[in-house]
Amino acid sequence: MPIPPAGALDRLEKRLEDLPLLPDVVHRLMSLRQDSYDYFDQVAQALHADPGFATRLLQYANSAALGAGRPITSIQEAMLRVGARGAVDLVLAHSAARIFVPGYEWEKMLWKHSIDVAWLMRKLSVLAVDHRGEPDEAYVFGLLHDIGRFVLYLEAPEELRSVEETDWATPEELIEAETRICGFTHSELGYLALRKWRLPDALAEAVRWHHTQPLPLDKIDGRYRALNELLQEADWIAVAAERAEAGDGKARSELRGALDGRLRLRGTADNLEFTIQEALRESRRMLAALHLQ
Ligand SMILES: [Fe+2]
Ligand SMILES: [Fe+2]
Repeated sequence: MPIPPAGALDRLEKRLEDLPLLPDVVHRLMSLRQDSYDYFDQVAQALHADPGFATRLLQYANSAALGAGRPITSIQEAMLRVGARGAVDLVLAHSAARIFVPGYEWEKMLWKHSIDVAWLMRKLSVLAVDHRGEPDEAYVFGLLHDIGRFVLYLEAPEELRSVEETDWATPEELIEAETRICGFTHSELGYLALRKWRLPDALAEAVRWHHTQPLPLDKIDGRYRALNELLQEADWIAVAAERAEAGDGKARSELRGALDGRLRLRGTADNLEFTIQEALRESRRMLAALHLQ
């Protein structure tokens, strides 16, 4: 690994030290058992306590594809529409986005990518050929996998800011550019950020190795091994879909080709394409409700 530019290590350590914590309510919500008798009430209570959460949830529940008929004006009704866990997903994304408020276009793109991957993980985890863990864990892993890029880019020189996710042909190129320019990778910084946020060690380790191939199996908790493989697929799909949407015909045919058998997912290419589009639509709705577009 190249030597980091002078002073960069100190500055990044300071950045991590100064990184605001996730609100306690997020930890509480994430640790609740969904099968407990008062899960719905506990989530509702947390949403009531923070006007920011409540406003976003109402907007999300009323967004075009979900909302039909009379507008929803209460938290309870909104939770019935999106589900209690759907509300928790929104709270986590909103809390992380309040820490890394997007100002530049690249930050917005990074949030779009993160929420796209989160939704792809949630939807595809149930279609994986081998068991890929719980959809909720899959969602959180997808949402936070690139959080280190926000930290890195806060500190990085301008040239790194111009290295957009869609500009590199393979993740290795991005990692190579980060290492060359900064001496750090976003995977390593993501690991440190999640530790700072007191999120589970197993999740932090999974983020740390999310670009490493082959995966260092001895370092990754069993629950995250298959999820890590799924993440690498979801990450690739998100980038390919983004390019295809921008009119890149080659990306579209590569994506279609991959759905025809390369990916370890169950279902015909048509079904998988439908699921991917569904995930990306969910992502758009969430981005709009969180004002991240
Ligand atoms: Fe990444
Ligand atoms: Fe990514």
